[in-house]
Amino acid sequence: MDSDEQRYVVIGERAEDSDTIEELAYEVLVGLSSEPKRLPSRFFYDDVGSRLFARIMRLEEYYLTDCEHSILERSGPEILSCMEGRAFNLVDLGAGDGAKTMLLLRHLAEIGADVTYVPIDISEGAMKGLVATIRKELPSIRVEGVVAEYHRGLQWLVRQRSDRANLVLFLGSNVGNFDRAQARGFLGRIWASLRSEDRVLVGFDLKKDIEKLLAAYNDREGVTSAFNLNLLERINRELGANFVTDRFRHFGTYDVTSGAMKSYLVSLDPQDVRVDALDRSFHFDAWEPVHTEYSYKYLRSDLDSLAHDSGFVVEQRFEDERGWFADDLWRPRKGGDDG
Ligand code: AVI
Repeated sequence: MDSDEQRYVVIGERAEDSDTIEELAYEVLVGLSSEPKRLPSRFFYDDVGSRLFARIMRLEEYYLTDCEHSILERSGPEILSCMEGRAFNLVDLGAGDGAKTMLLLRHLAEIGADVTYVPIDISEGAMKGLVATIRKELPSIRVEGVVAEYHRGLQWLVRQRSDRANLVLFLGSNVGNFDRAQARGFLGRIWASLRSEDRVLVGFDLKKDIEKLLAAYNDREGVTSAFNLNLLERINRELGANFVTDRFRHFGTYDVTSGAMKSYLVSLDPQDVRVDALDRSFHFDAWEPVHTEYSYKYLRSDLDSLAHDSGFVVEQRFEDERGWFADDLWRPRKGGDDG
């Protein structure tokens, strides 16, 4: 640990700002030169985008947060019973402000569990905020954050602390922003870092009434639209581009077969946009779309297949009252254990 104040470690090479800008420049070059055009959703989350996402999570239409909150509130003790009587790390991938995890931590504090809370995040700024919040609100909980890319952080943790089991959280349907192959790859890499006594809890948004899905990604206040358009503003700010955001509109649509909510930015006019950092201009035809995000929705059978294909056995499924969202508790299949 860096100091008593900090209570987190920084491992590996961090994505310093300049690396992120280089990466953004590369993705803008590749994505806007492709047909159809695309930009990756992971660049939504600069400071402005993170604040907009926090507002999305409070919108009435964006049911995902409330659903998962109610699952953790109602079933938290049952979920945590998989670690009963053991010293363990509660490992939080993509903790954000930690609001949902706080529900689990409160219960663990109450029962006096031997738990260490280990948020893993690439952003040292986010980590500082989270560690400070936990120290203030739950001073009895031991916090040892890891500033690192998820997989490196998890590998490091499991090697360092072989005496403790791990319950890894990947909440919020973050997995839904990967396509199916990427999701299998991501979960497979988590599997590779774990031992048989470890568990993962993964949040999935389930397929439901299409109107609810469309409303969640096309809210009345226009926060999701601002969140999507901020990607162009970020490119203006960081790469010296001259996107006029009024000349694009947000469009969120649902593909019933793949289960993907797909977000686009659609050019309203024929226009050329210059990106200084790339010393290049890109042409957009009127009504030409730029794909910016997938948010996959799942059948329960999809979750079973995904668990199986990435090396896990589904131990228990926790759903909200309406059956709109699931937090799945998975056990890694290891060493001749065929589930
Ligand atoms: C972070 N992620 C799970 C959100 C989602 O629902 O795909 C991001 C988001 N995009 C639009 N609204 C929210």
